[in-house]
Amino acid sequence: MSEDVLASPEVVEEELDILIIGGGMGACGTAFEIPKWAEGTGLKIKLVDKAAMDRSGAVAQGLSAINTYMGDNDPADYVRYVRGDLMGITREDLVYDTGRHVDDSVHNFEDWGLPVWKQKGDEGKKLRDGGKPVRSGRWQIMINGESYKWIVAEAAKKALGIENIQERIFIVRLMTDKNDPGRIAGAAGFSVRENKIYIYKFKTCLLAAGGAVNIFRPRSIGEGTGRAWYPVWNAGSTYAMAAECGAEMTLMENRFVPARFKDGYGPVGAWFLLFKAKAMNAFGEDYQEKNYDLLKDHGYDKYAVGFAMGTCLRNHLMMIEMKEGRGPILMDTPSAMAKLAESMTPKEIKHLEAEAWEDFLDMTISQCGVWAGENIEPDKEMSELMPTEPYLLGSHAGCAGLWCSGPDDLPGTPDHYHWGYNRMTTVNGLFTAGDGVGASGHKFSSGSFTEGRMVAKSMVQYCLDNPDLKPELSRTTEQLVDEIYRPVHTFLEHKDYTTAIDINPHYITPKMLQFRLQKIMDEYVAGVSTWYQTNEQMLVMAERKMKMLKEDSLKMRAKDLHELLRAWENYHRIITAEAHMQHIKFRQETRYPGYYYRADYQAINDDEWKCFVNSTYDRDTGEWKLKKVKWQPLISVGENEPEAMRHLGPELS
Ligand code: FAD
Ligand code: ADX
Repeated sequence: MSEDVLASPEVVEEELDILIIGGGMGACGTAFEIPKWAEGTGLKIKLVDKAAMDRSGAVAQGLSAINTYMGDNDPADYVRYVRGDLMGITREDLVYDTGRHVDDSVHNFEDWGLPVWKQKGDEGKKLRDGGKPVRSGRWQIMINGESYKWIVAEAAKKALGIENIQERIFIVRLMTDKNDPGRIAGAAGFSVRENKIYIYKFKTCLLAAGGAVNIFRPRSIGEGTGRAWYPVWNAGSTYAMAAECGAEMTLMENRFVPARFKDGYGPVGAWFLLFKAKAMNAFGEDYQEKNYDLLKDHGYDKYAVGFAMGTCLRNHLMMIEMKEGRGPILMDTPSAMAKLAESMTPKEIKHLEAEAWEDFLDMTISQCGVWAGENIEPDKEMSELMPTEPYLLGSHAGCAGLWCSGPDDLPGTPDHYHWGYNRMTTVNGLFTAGDGVGASGHKFSSGSFTEGRMVAKSMVQYCLDNPDLKPELSRTTEQLVDEIYRPVHTFLEHKDYTTAIDINPHYITPKMLQFRLQKIMDEYVAGVSTWYQTNEQMLVMAERKMKMLKEDSLKMRAKDLHELLRAWENYHRIITAEAHMQHIKFRQETRYPGYYYRADYQAINDDEWKCFVNSTYDRDTGEWKLKKVKWQPLISVGENEPEAMRHLGPELS
């Protein structure tokens, strides 16, 4: 496609009842479930994904485990586990709701062909029929999951019909209704393959575009650029688009900093939980045991029960070693494998070695690349662990996201947890799932899919309850076209001013802008270069720089459709980053040590901060409004939970 052809894109306008944005686990759950509820209603439903559903989103490479499966467990204990991991503050209604419904989704995955490991004697017996899975941990079950996303996407496509699915459409913005700013009315985006802009008008939509990656300067730079743990193509679209149309966000200060196998970003769960490997400092010391008492320094021990502690606290104990110069941290894979092999036949040992590799071949192939490239045999040599750059997400061991209405049938649910349809945001008709739903982490792939199914039911009900709704967009087609293609027009207007295409005083390339964003976030907002520390003054500095970056973002160029995609991804990253920064500034405590530290407020302060922090953004003024929101427990405190769980937080109206 020549550059000038881009000047005048074709505009396609469509009217629907329901739009599903995203093709990942949440969106696939909706696509699978919705035809059942919509049957006979005549509702027009469509799904758009920026990529190809078979391999889009966080499950693209496949997974080795399903991290949320109840089996014989009580969902109330699942709530206890999640709130423990997330330092006390979670929406227990949402977590419980996921827990009580998740297993049916996993049973479906198995029915569709996903191989689930079974205990000896139960091989060939399905989970649905009582087959016992091999558990890596209390909540996680092992799978042969290289083709997990293919399998789930196939079921989703079959249910919704491929004629109702369009891939390679990047949604740039949502629009509220011209006559009702509190109601959703449409979305606009563009094709990343053809010179076309798409404008959709609808009654309701699911926004499930995953979490946010590459907001912070990654550890992988130079030849490693592009490698991250969470998927680089989830660019904060969920948070940014929802914020821009006024949806309330919650716990956007939270983030996930996973400890991962260094450079390849290989997950650690199977090694810690299934293979029972230990991690140690450079001198062979168990840093968790050694540093345990240091948790008392700032009251972090309040949220640990013996060595059972949340993900961020485990990170914290590891980081002490690294900061004080006792790295590298090493995962003792040889001892773990030797111990397991003690009771194995040679054939079983071979199988074990294959599993060690397959864990990564199924999920994070680059880790196998590192092992092969560095001649590391995991049964002979240890591997380094490293905490990664921060990611924002709401479905893994983090809980950033949108403030959503919960289910209506749980006793004790306060009014501010339930105001409408399940998983609807504070904007009428706008729903989310998976990484989008805030304050309810640890749902993972299966829980995200399950939330998508819940949303399907809610969205159909919303349409049936509002038969006469006639959405009208708050922006004209011309305004949308001008805005979405601004980076293209900027390029075409100024490209001949200089002889080197990347150097031009009138525009900035998306790549350069991304570097600037990552540098600001890294150096001032608790990235890896400050060992995840920040303070009020650093945040004020960041705010100033971010304001200028936002101004300059209007000067991003796009010389082709690929760059147009990159430009809008970066714009979404900036809004998401701003939310993160504002929330960290507002919460004057260190709630998540090991994820980030407020160096000026190092302690956990339950008296003032055991509550949600919620925010709204005003797109016209660029202002953020933040407030504290009351945390309300619903599940009783179990005997193995820390005493701090009983603290009800500040009284808030
Ligand atoms: P995703 O599945 O990421 O889907 C997001 C979708 O939005 C994608 O289809 C994307 O293309 C689309 N999109 C993004 N932006 C736009 C836009 N602007 N317009 C249109 N479409 C857009 N879970 C487990 O259960 N077990 C595990 O072992 C496990 N391991 C993991 C290992 C890795 C390496 C990773 C990255 C994740 C792992 N997870 C695991 C977590 C799991 O993958 C996520 O919890 C889950 O995929 C979240 O679902 P989601 O629908 O919110 O987002
Ligand atoms: S993955 O999703 O990318 O595979 P990871 O391997 O860290 O992530 O975690 C998989 C599951 O194991 C998650 O439920 C996580 O909370 C849990 N997990 C990982 N490490 C530990 C540990 N040391 N102790 C307890 N649970 C862990």
